[in-house]
Amino acid sequence: MKTFDLELKKLRKVYPGNTLAVEGFDLQVERGEFISFVGPSGCGKTTTLRMIAGLESITSGDLLIRGENFTSVPTEQRPTSTIFQNYAIFPHMSVRENIEFGLHVRKITGNTLVKKVDLIIEKLELGDIQHSKENALSGGQKQRLALARGLVTEPDILLLDEPLGALDANLRKSIQEELKQLQRSLNITFVFVTHAQSEALSMGDRVVVMNAGKVEQISEPYDLYTRPKTSFVAKFIGRNILIKGKIAGSHGELVTVKTAHGNLSGVPSFDVAIVKSGTDIQVVVPSELVSMKKPGSKIKSGEHGITGKVKGLNRVGRVIHTILEISDGNDLQIETYAENIASLNLVPGSLVDLVWEAEKATIVWDGENSQ
Ligand SMILES: Nc1ncnc2c1ncn2[C@@H]1O[C@H](COP(=O)(O)OP(=O)(O)O)[C@@H](O)[C@H]1O
Ligand SMILES: [Mg+2]
Repeated sequence: MKTFDLELKKLRKVYPGNTLAVEGFDLQVERGEFISFVGPSGCGKTTTLRMIAGLESITSGDLLIRGENFTSVPTEQRPTSTIFQNYAIFPHMSVRENIEFGLHVRKITGNTLVKKVDLIIEKLELGDIQHSKENALSGGQKQRLALARGLVTEPDILLLDEPLGALDANLRKSIQEELKQLQRSLNITFVFVTHAQSEALSMGDRVVVMNAGKVEQISEPYDLYTRPKTSFVAKFIGRNILIKGKIAGSHGELVTVKTAHGNLSGVPSFDVAIVKSGTDIQVVVPSELVSMKKPGSKIKSGEHGITGKVKGLNRVGRVIHTILEISDGNDLQIETYAENIASLNLVPGSLVDLVWEAEKATIVWDGENSQ
């Protein structure tokens, strides 16, 4: 049987006072993978990370690291390190002493300690500031110190909880790249928590999208964009149009949905065999794949066209952002070069045909509990 670096089985956390924070969390992570957890504030990302680290007890379910059960093992005996958003650097200790601290906790001393600290100081280029204290460090240096402290114990898994949240946008971008390179060169599994979807998608080999304590989808970034599994994911990731409807049938790979715009089809992200005709579902269309045409334009076979009404137009250089409304769906925004839509002469109130290829649309079903 294959051994994963990290395996979560039906992980569940109920805090005292009966707050259900995480439920039914299943995950299998390969060695050296970069996994991002993303979701709105309060969805259970930190709680899950803390359960993996042993900083929070596990109410039920199992946690396996490299095949061994760690569900009830104390934090200092787990092969994990955690990096927090505020870094938790000890202000009265030097950079070097901060790095030594984790080794002291693990009872590593003498020459072994010195060698390990020297190695990580070199790796993260902290030599020049090894005797400085926190108040003399820049944001980027604090970030590198936090990483050094996490990595010096040679963990199997590094857990990072919004580690870039305190940095300004430019520094954040360059540290994202550094972090990704470091992870590749070390070949250590990283679990990276963020509430920023762009960060989760650019960093993660795979991304776990969470909502209200549950996993909505675990996929590679491209699949989250192109084939969302739920309406939550379709709204949270990318820019999608969602159109409500009822399942009307299926033909080949596609499912047909009865909507206020007539029948629309798309690729289902669920097993069609288990969903009855008439069930409430939604058609998800990526707005960047929608083109605007004159009302009444001829629609090719395999394409769909629905009517939209222009609400507003914003010009940003050569690009025009057209904001449209459709009946029984959410508003959408389409970006095009001005010259490509000049002949449409759009003004607020204009009607246009919105056209896309049926197979680029995804049909999502929010499960038994959806309203
Ligand atoms: N120590 C705690 N005691 C009680 N409830 C908590 C505690 N920590 C977090 N929660 C609750 O658990 C839920 C998940 O929180 P958290 O894991 O911090 O979410 P995230 O990191 O995604 O913002 C929230 O409803 C939060 O209020
Ligand atoms: Mg959090």
